[in-house]
Amino acid sequence: MSELLRVEGLSKKFGALAAVDDLSFTLNEGEVVSIIGPNGSGKTTTINLISGELSATRGHVFLESSRITRFPPDRVAEAGIRRTFQNGRVFGNTSVLDNILIGQTPLLRVSHPLGRLRRYPVLRWVALLTELVVALTPFPAKTRELAWQRSAAEEEIGRFGAHRLVGREQDWAASLSYANRRRTEIARALASHPRLLVLDEPTAGMNTTETAEILDILLALKKQGQAILLVEHKLDLVMQLSDRVIVMDNGHKIAEGDPSEIESNPRVIEAYLGKRYATGGHA
Ligand SMILES: Nc1ncnc2c1ncn2[C@@H]1O[C@H](COP(=O)(O)OP(=O)(O)OP(=O)(O)O)[C@@H](O)[C@H]1O
Ligand SMILES: [Mg+2]
Repeated sequence: MSELLRVEGLSKKFGALAAVDDLSFTLNEGEVVSIIGPNGSGKTTTINLISGELSATRGHVFLESSRITRFPPDRVAEAGIRRTFQNGRVFGNTSVLDNILIGQTPLLRVSHPLGRLRRYPVLRWVALLTELVVALTPFPAKTRELAWQRSAAEEEIGRFGAHRLVGREQDWAASLSYANRRRTEIARALASHPRLLVLDEPTAGMNTTETAEILDILLALKKQGQAILLVEHKLDLVMQLSDRVIVMDNGHKIAEGDPSEIESNPRVIEAYLGKRYATGGHA
């Protein structure tokens, strides 16, 4: 299996606090790697460093052989890493469908021909004017691209089954249940067919049935070869889904291994899983 993501000596300090300290790991094509650990152990900070939401104090992130350390979030997304957020981020006053379509914008080469220029102060106006002209001009390549965009979004809406997002495409995201907002965010990340899907507690706030549905969806994605980096507190889900599990505590990686190794690692049991898990219950 070839290496997709490499994190090397990644560190993030917030003043005197080392939220992530010298973290290294890799994730191969098609692999599901989960990061677990107690509250405040540095899991979200790690994801934020990978996705460009935060800038590393030290260390590097590579996607294949390209160094993406300190790329802004839009460039990381363009490189093929798409994520969801622990607290959820949907545009409330925007429809479910548009929330998903937004995620694909960087991929639209016909509708946004000079999209990369948007990063530069003066040149961004050239990009915006070109997009305006393209938006006002009907031509086949654009129509085809927009049709692809829409069908990819609808496919993702359908992924969650008949009674979740289907039929709610035009509803404002603000009107959705908490679980449906999370589904919308996952759909937005998936609609761009990311090379790496990064999920920060995707089932937080979901009940047992909803969590089981997400597990099924993630297992199906894994079967299709989707690489996933997952942060999750629900250990049953983590253990069923992951090829490898990384355990963090106080910003450090304290263990890494396959689910059975992690479940039986005394240091992990002590730091995170707790006695109940060790005796067959849940942490
Ligand atoms: N922007 C920030 N400024 C200052 N401290 C921060 C910031 N973000 C995170 N921290 C601190 O860094 C540490 C790691 O936080 P992080 O959110 O990465 O933990 P986590 O493992 O995701 O926890 P949880 O399971 O509760 O989501 C915590 O002590 C947190 O308070
Ligand atoms: Mg977190």
